[in-house]
Amino acid sequence: MPYTPSKYWSDLHVRRDLSAVGQSGLNSAMNQQLYRIWARNLRRFLKRNGVQRIGPTAFEVGAGTGYWLPLWRELGAERIDGCDLVPSAVDDLNSRFGPSGGFIVLDLGDEKVGLDCYDFVACMDVLLHITDDAKFDRALANLARLVAPGGRLLMKEPILLREGFERPYNPELSSRARPLSRYRAGLEAEGLKLEAIGPATAIANNPIEGRSRLAYRAWRGTWGVVSLPSKIHPANARWVGAVLSAIDPALMALGAAPSGKFALFARPG
Ligand SMILES: C[S@@+](CC[C@H](N)C(=O)[O-])C[C@H]1O[C@@H](n2cnc3c(N)ncnc32)[C@H](O)[C@@H]1O
Repeated sequence: MPYTPSKYWSDLHVRRDLSAVGQSGLNSAMNQQLYRIWARNLRRFLKRNGVQRIGPTAFEVGAGTGYWLPLWRELGAERIDGCDLVPSAVDDLNSRFGPSGGFIVLDLGDEKVGLDCYDFVACMDVLLHITDDAKFDRALANLARLVAPGGRLLMKEPILLREGFERPYNPELSSRARPLSRYRAGLEAEGLKLEAIGPATAIANNPIEGRSRLAYRAWRGTWGVVSLPSKIHPANARWVGAVLSAIDPALMALGAAPSGKFALFARPG
């Protein structure tokens, strides 16, 4: 069955919890643990790269359940707008976060979307799901155009640092890891500059690459072990999360970056 984004995401959003937008093969309890680790790592990534505050206007593409919106507010955003492909998700976002922003139904890969510019734009695990190349290119251009002069784009995406791990396009798959050069080409053509890139986690998400094929296989094995206990019983998510949370920073400090990345782009003022 070919991947049909609107159906795939509408079906997932019926769950109305983090398993709809995180690791869909894992339950909500385990996804809560994973998101908690990603959020902790994101705060550290932003601090390390001098982002203590963001501007007053923010936009999140593919905002999903709105998990990240409170963080944008905490960092200083006063108005947060956003979009998602799925109407029911947008309705939920508007009812939960509406007074301080507006959310619309929008496919980021559509022909030039006419939106305002923002001080801060977030794209958290969305571009990987735009598997068609022409749509992906349009999505990058649309994303870049959302960033105001002096503004920033933050991404959390499975960006490959080793091009050899890119896999051929498969119309049946709902996600696709692409190399950094692909992201840079599209965003830099629209005037953005890469400021920083780093691992979003080492072991708290599925691996996409490794220093060697063997290392990649080892990371895959580790992820299989890590994801098993919460499948046996959701209560196991808690201790697995605690173990992952403790080990993850040490692995990243050793240079491990087999999974998704945080990337920060800026438009010169
Ligand atoms: C993996 S989820 C991530 C949700 C949220 N950003 C997060 O990190 O929790 C991907 C989200 O992007 C939305 N989405 C998928 N393709 C999209 C597209 N082409 N344009 C806009 N949103 C899209 C999905 O409906 C889903 O809510």
